[in-house]
Amino acid sequence: MFEQIHSYTDDAIEAVYARSAADMRSDKLDLSIGVYRDELGAVTVMDAVTRAEARLLSGPRPKGYVSPLGNRRYVEAVEQLVLGANHPAVSDNRVVSAQGPGAGGMLRVGAELIATLRPDATLWLSDPVWEHQIEFFSRAGVPRRYYRYYDRHSGLLRFDEMLADLANARAGDVVLIHGCCHNPTGADLSIAQWQRLADLCLERDLVPFVDVAYQGFGVNVEQDVAGVRLMAATVPEMLLAVSSSKSFTIYRERVGMLSLILSSATRREHVSRWLRDLIRGLYFMPPDHGAAVVAEVLLDAEFRRSWNSELDVFRERMIASRTRLVDALSTALPRLDFNFILGQQGMFSVLPLDAQQLDRLVRDHGIYLLSNGRLNFAALPEKHTPRVAQALAAVMVDHPSETGVAAVAV
Ligand SMILES: Cc1ncc(COP(=O)(O)O)c(C=O)c1O
Repeated sequence: MFEQIHSYTDDAIEAVYARSAADMRSDKLDLSIGVYRDELGAVTVMDAVTRAEARLLSGPRPKGYVSPLGNRRYVEAVEQLVLGANHPAVSDNRVVSAQGPGAGGMLRVGAELIATLRPDATLWLSDPVWEHQIEFFSRAGVPRRYYRYYDRHSGLLRFDEMLADLANARAGDVVLIHGCCHNPTGADLSIAQWQRLADLCLERDLVPFVDVAYQGFGVNVEQDVAGVRLMAATVPEMLLAVSSSKSFTIYRERVGMLSLILSSATRREHVSRWLRDLIRGLYFMPPDHGAAVVAEVLLDAEFRRSWNSELDVFRERMIASRTRLVDALSTALPRLDFNFILGQQGMFSVLPLDAQQLDRLVRDHGIYLLSNGRLNFAALPEKHTPRVAQALAAVMVDHPSETGVAAVAV
């Protein structure tokens, strides 16, 4: 059996990680991985999370199975966090949710659900996309198409093209949308654009699948999910994946949620038991620890206040990091306009660099971006910003890519 795997090429993201991990230069700077780091490069753990965890560990520590649907305290708290306690879908009892191993795991469950219930549906993904997102659906056999989303040369959203592409979707197709802080581009829809997209989904009978991985990283905890709430209030049915990895700095505990928003509460019980059994057949039971910690943070007023203000600090630091890099790049390359970076949200932007330029960044400067040009501002310490700007300027000036530099020129 295993002789079939005689050689293997890493996917694009893994290849960058592997190259970076093997790089022993002391001044190497990895801006590719999507985690929040402090100024010293350590992965931050929020104080509210540490304190909630300590409190849980000081009490009884049950270790029995919970359920394939996971931790109910977590699910109820996160449904309210994302959709809002007064959302009609919540108050009408039309939401069926499961907690599981991260949004990654829950996207995979969602893919399995689509393959089972709508085997003829096509999944529409943004171009560009968070590349791992493709795998969840391709491994479940869900056919895929792409809608244009972002112009990497101008740094602008391609909203009209997005709608034009989705006008080709067939009734019953599923549209994957990032709730906020789009990965990899940081370019988000305005609330008016969410409304137009929701209207299109309604008119054409498309099912939105919204992926919320960075709540609190854009504007604030409430505004970052305004589009998701609007979508859930407009369409009859929707899928929602939520990650707690980034918003709670709890990546390796693996906790996220899948919610199914139904058109009517009458089917709720059946759908819930169906989802339970789908999950049981995939991984039996999810881990619980991270879910218990997140629930403890959200349901304790003091922990929650602390979490909110820690998120504010994260967000302001990422905005400051964007501003610093734009200032430094504008000084280094005055003929180019990098202001598009300031209009984007969250950890990421995509810089208009080609493969040769990215390779030179690594070879000559020890700076790693993803192969699509994605840069993580939450991993860029202030003291390294001038060096990164100089390195970017050097590869852009010496090696102008046919499209990139020329096209962003003012
Ligand atoms: C858009 C998006 N969805 C989901 C995930 C995965 O989140 P989790 O760690 O909860 O699996 C990520 C992580 O990078 C992401 O960017």
